[in-house]
Order: sequence, then structure tokens, then C-alpha cells
Amino acid sequence: MALVEIDATLCQSCGTCVASCPETVYVHQQKGSVPQITHPDLCISCGQCVAICPEGAITHEDFPLGTVSPIDRQVLPSADQILETIKTRRSIRAFRKKPVERDLIERIIDGARFAPSAHNVQSTEFTVVQDKEVRRRIVDFTSRYLEKTSRQLHNPILRRLLLMLAREAIEGALELLPDFDRIVKEVRKGKDTILFDAPVVVFFHASQRIDNSDVNATLALQNAALVTHSLGLGGFYAGYVVSACQRDDRIPRLLEVPREHRVYGALALGYPKFKFKNWIERRTAKIRWI
Ligand SMILES: Cc1cc2nc3c(=O)[nH]c(=O)nc-3n(C[C@H](O)[C@H](O)[C@H](O)COP(=O)(O)O)c2cc1C
Repeated sequence: MALVEIDATLCQSCGTCVASCPETVYVHQQKGSVPQITHPDLCISCGQCVAICPEGAITHEDFPLGTVSPIDRQVLPSADQILETIKTRRSIRAFRKKPVERDLIERIIDGARFAPSAHNVQSTEFTVVQDKEVRRRIVDFTSRYLEKTSRQLHNPILRRLLLMLAREAIEGALELLPDFDRIVKEVRKGKDTILFDAPVVVFFHASQRIDNSDVNATLALQNAALVTHSLGLGGFYAGYVVSACQRDDRIPRLLEVPREHRVYGALALGYPKFKFKNWIERRTAKIRWI
């Protein structure tokens, strides 16, 4: 149970903690009185109360000195700057040979760990791969997974059976078959069309037992992708590697991902070889206003 306290000598009874707590840890019994901490057992340690209290009256054992920082609104980007960052981020698949400095990778992961997570579980864990031989083996295992899947889908009996078992998923995979075959052929010729020789791959994984751990990891990855772009680096979501991790345990075993974990994302990144000159329009959003 979290130890939360309100310093009654500082509290101005504004009720902000009561209104912002997502779990009804606080109750305002009377207007003008200090809120009561009625359900500390429900606290999810999101820190909203500590971050929002205008008087700094709340102490929480999970947020000791050094874990609470004042917000400097001067350095917050404008909506235009945020949108420009989002619109100018593109998948980068051509990298310079230059290795990425560890402190930059740490900043990228810093962005990832601040993504929202269901019930603030912060379930996502990270495995950073820089080692050339390990990257080569990831490409090899992914290519072999694509080859095996292609072989199964080219087999008419197996294909019919798989379609009966999971029609939508298999129909989707069938559309990608030419891509699988092309990638396998290129990798065999020594061209890396899986990781595109990215010098770094960050894997996002979490315990499968945690509710929404897949969504949490995906949100973390997108935060990471935007920080990557802001740092002048570039990357792409290595989807084929993720599929290989989910359907074949060779890559998770190679990376020593905990057994109960599932890999939910992989961001391949590095210094871009080229710079985009333009950003281009996307399809108009299909919106229904109700
Ligand atoms: C789930 C997912 C899987 C993806 N898998 C791959 C992949 O295996 N290889 C790749 O080069 N790009 C992959 N991408 C990147 C997409 O191709 C790319 O985001 C899309 O074409 C839009 O281009 P942009 O990222 O430049 O805006 C993937 C993206 C997502 C969201």
C-alpha cells in the first residue's frame, strides 16, 4: 500500500488532488477542509496528485526528493511544432555507418518510458541491440521465418486448412506473400531488406500476463520514434522482425527476452543517410462527428 500524506499546514483545500486522482484515493468530505486519504490501497502511483498540488502539500513514498521536477512551460513546443515533428517523421531505411551514441539511445528510451500505460503499469521493457553479429542473426532468423511461412502458404492443402482456421489473418498474409518471397531472395543475396543495416534495434517487450501490455508497448514505441526523429536520427518499425519474434522463439531466445514476455515492437534506427526535403499529404481523415 502506498504511503501518501497531505501536510495540513500547507494544504489550501482546493480539492485538485481529489479531482485529478483516477482511483478515488482522496475524498473531500467538506468544502474548505483538508481532503481525506480514504483509499491509499487503490493508488496506482501515477503521481498526478504530487504533480498537480499547487502548494506542494502531498508527499508520496514512490516520489521521493529528486523525482519531482517543476514544469518549465517556456521550453514546451507549440502545437505547430509538435505537428511539424509528427508530419516530418518518416520511416528511414538508409543509414550511415556511424554508430549511435549510447546517451542518445537512452534519451529515446526516456521518451518511451513516459508514454501512458493502462493503470500506469509501465509494463514495457527494452532490449537494445547494437552487436553486428546479433543483428545479422536477427535478419537470418526473420528471413527463415518468412521463408517457412511462404512455403506453408504456397502449399495448397495447408493453405486451405489455415484459411479454415484463421481466414482473415491468412488472407492478409497471402497478400504479403510476394513481399516475403522478395525479401527472402534479397537476404540470400546478401542485401539486408529486413533491418536495412540499421546500427541499432530497440525491442519493446513485456509480460503477456499484464493487461494491455501490447498497447502500452506500441505507445512507448511511437514516443521513441518521435524522439528519434527530433534527435536527427531516423528509424522504422521493424514489423517482420516483430512477427518473427511472435511466431518463432529463436529471436527472443537469442536476445534472452524473459520467457513470459512477448515482443510487441522493434524500432530499427541510426543516422539517416539522406534528409527528406518535403513532407507530403496523407489521406483526408475519415471523421464522423456525433
Ligand atoms: C505495424 C508496422 C509494421 C511495419 N513493418 C515494417 C517493416 O517490416 N519494414 C519496413 O521497412 N517498414 C515497416 N513499417 C513502416 C511502414 O512501411 C511505414 O510506416 C509506412 O509506409 C508509412 O511511411 P512513413 O513511416 O515513412 O510515414 C511498418 C509500420 C508499422 C506501423
